[in-house]
Amino acid sequence: MSLMRSVLLAGAESVWLRERAMRWPFVRRSVSRFMPGETADEALAACRRQQEQHGTGAILTHLGENLSSLAEADAVTAGYLALIDRIAKEELDAQVSVKLTQLGLDLGVDACDRNLQQLVARAESRSNIVWIDMESTKYVDPTIELFRRARARSPRVGMCLQSYLRRSAADLEALLPLGPAIRLVKGAYREPPGLVLPSKAEVDENYFRLAVRMLHPDAPKGTFVGIGTHDRRLVGRLRAEVAARGSDRSSYEFEMLYGIQRPLQAQLVAEREPLRVLVSYGEFWFPWYMRRLAERPANVLFVMKNLLAG
Ligand code: FDA
Repeated sequence: MSLMRSVLLAGAESVWLRERAMRWPFVRRSVSRFMPGETADEALAACRRQQEQHGTGAILTHLGENLSSLAEADAVTAGYLALIDRIAKEELDAQVSVKLTQLGLDLGVDACDRNLQQLVARAESRSNIVWIDMESTKYVDPTIELFRRARARSPRVGMCLQSYLRRSAADLEALLPLGPAIRLVKGAYREPPGLVLPSKAEVDENYFRLAVRMLHPDAPKGTFVGIGTHDRRLVGRLRAEVAARGSDRSSYEFEMLYGIQRPLQAQLVAEREPLRVLVSYGEFWFPWYMRRLAERPANVLFVMKNLLAG
């Protein structure tokens, strides 16, 4: 891991920095590049623009993690229930993606399960789907366990796997018999070196292998892969695989973050590939924002430009 990435990911976990940086105007200016606004109204308006002007679907996520009371987790759940209703009412092509720590995972697996259950049931009644984000490694086992429980109740739930983790290939094999919806990403957290693949080349290659496994025509019925990456090379290789294997076009979609790789997003839409853009909102954006900076050192230059402009 590069020094810059380590420093930024350590910064993502710093409460001291968070409490200060969230008030700095130049930070607030640069975050707007990745986030259309803090409120659900602003996020829904961005979904509509994505749909009507850019021809993509959307995924909505309310930023926040590691809550300290079940009342907070219940409030987050109520917010997502209302959001799923609004998506249906406003006829938006949008789904939601949740972090289990926001639904109370640190406070008890069963309480979190109850909240997740409510969201999946509501999504089911609205013909929608709930995605579960993958957080740092200590949450991987409980996240998979809760995904399994939810999947046993309804197919309208998907979960993220991270290609930087050595264990993900085995996790995918164990989940495949379910015919699961999996969003594949590279992984965005600071992890102990022994648990992650050592080089970016290996993470990328693992990504390719895992995605191909899900795109294979022999993958169990219902298997769906959300190809969550902005990596132009991987996108090109996977498109070639899809074409060569004749994969069913309803078995995958590309997924990217709002504001990142817009030219590639436009190219995919123009070439009639399915694409969803993940739109984040909420007041607790600092750790998420630091992870976006860590993904690309050039983003730090962008922040510096905003500092000088201010
Ligand atoms: P990579 O980092 O190799 O970047 C490839 C290229 O994309 C870069 O060269 C650059 O051009 C561009 N790019 C990438 N990130 C950028 C940025 N921040 N700003 C500007 N340009 C950028 N992670 C996780 O651990 N758990 C999760 O649940 C999720 N969920 C999730 C959903 C969706 C829809 C996406 C797209 C991503 C996630 N992630 C995630 C984040 C993911 O793990 C990863 O950190 C980022 O997607 C960056 O990795 P890439 O695959 O884009 O490749």
